[in-house]
Amino acid sequence: MEGPSIDEYRPEHPDIRADFIIPQAWENYTDVEHGVWKTLYERQMDLLPGRACNEFLDGLKALKMPEDKIPNFDEMNEHLMKLTGWQVVAVPGLVPDSIFFEHLANRRFVSGNFIRKPDQLDYLQEPDIFHDVFGHVPLLANPIFADYMEAYGKGGLRAMEHHCLQNLSRLYWYTVEFGLIKTPEGMRIYGAGILSSKGESIFSLDSDSPNRIHFDLPRLMRTKYRIDDYQQTYWVIDSFEELFAETAAKDFGPIYEELPDLGSYEPWDVLAKDKVYTQGTQEYAKSKGRMPVHAA
Ligand code: PHE
Ligand code: FE
Repeated sequence: MEGPSIDEYRPEHPDIRADFIIPQAWENYTDVEHGVWKTLYERQMDLLPGRACNEFLDGLKALKMPEDKIPNFDEMNEHLMKLTGWQVVAVPGLVPDSIFFEHLANRRFVSGNFIRKPDQLDYLQEPDIFHDVFGHVPLLANPIFADYMEAYGKGGLRAMEHHCLQNLSRLYWYTVEFGLIKTPEGMRIYGAGILSSKGESIFSLDSDSPNRIHFDLPRLMRTKYRIDDYQQTYWVIDSFEELFAETAAKDFGPIYEELPDLGSYEPWDVLAKDKVYTQGTQEYAKSKGRMPVHAA
């Protein structure tokens, strides 16, 4: 996910650093902006108990994430640092892949420092502070997930050398952004892209439309994804231990050797060998989908 160059950010953010970090400038948020956070927070918390995994809800509490105002990173980082040694840093928007991975590899999570406008509550293309902080940061308080994210950063730098970044990006998309987890109480959400979206928090668990398939690393790394609408397939893990064992603890070298010769699967494909929990009708994508399919 490359974004603008540093020079394009500089006019608006004169004190941007070479690693794209800018001051959060928390004092500059307006009441309207804090109000957007509060509205989104309330909307999600009406939905998420019983839908989000416990690790996410526990993380929100452990971090004392504010309900009614945009979090101040300095305050939140004190809690986060004590829990897992992670930090959240502000950036103006999308950053180059290598910068993103370098931060993750050093336990720094980059967050956009802006928030969506009150008339764009439901959909925006660029990740804002609500998505980045509410969606992503609570799980960084979980020790196993925290280690997974650091390992992913290191793995990203390695994937770039192997020219397999697209495959590794699919792993991020289908786990960190849109992952589901099967718990004794039922299917739960852990992906930040779902947790920060009212519509997808319902759709991902309740709709008959998408497939829900058990996590399978090589299969998932060959599967395209949509960035413009709800996912057509969700990949389900049993536990964060499983996710870590299947990814961080594995050497991707042999997989990277093979991948260039193998084709890609479509976002809706179901294969005979897949461990399928629900085979979707794809009704939503066929009829009500927001836009035509553009898959990466
Ligand atoms: N273990 C992977 C490798 O050898 C890196 C990785 C870690 C990938 C964690 C994803 C998540 O390249
Ligand atoms: Fe995200």
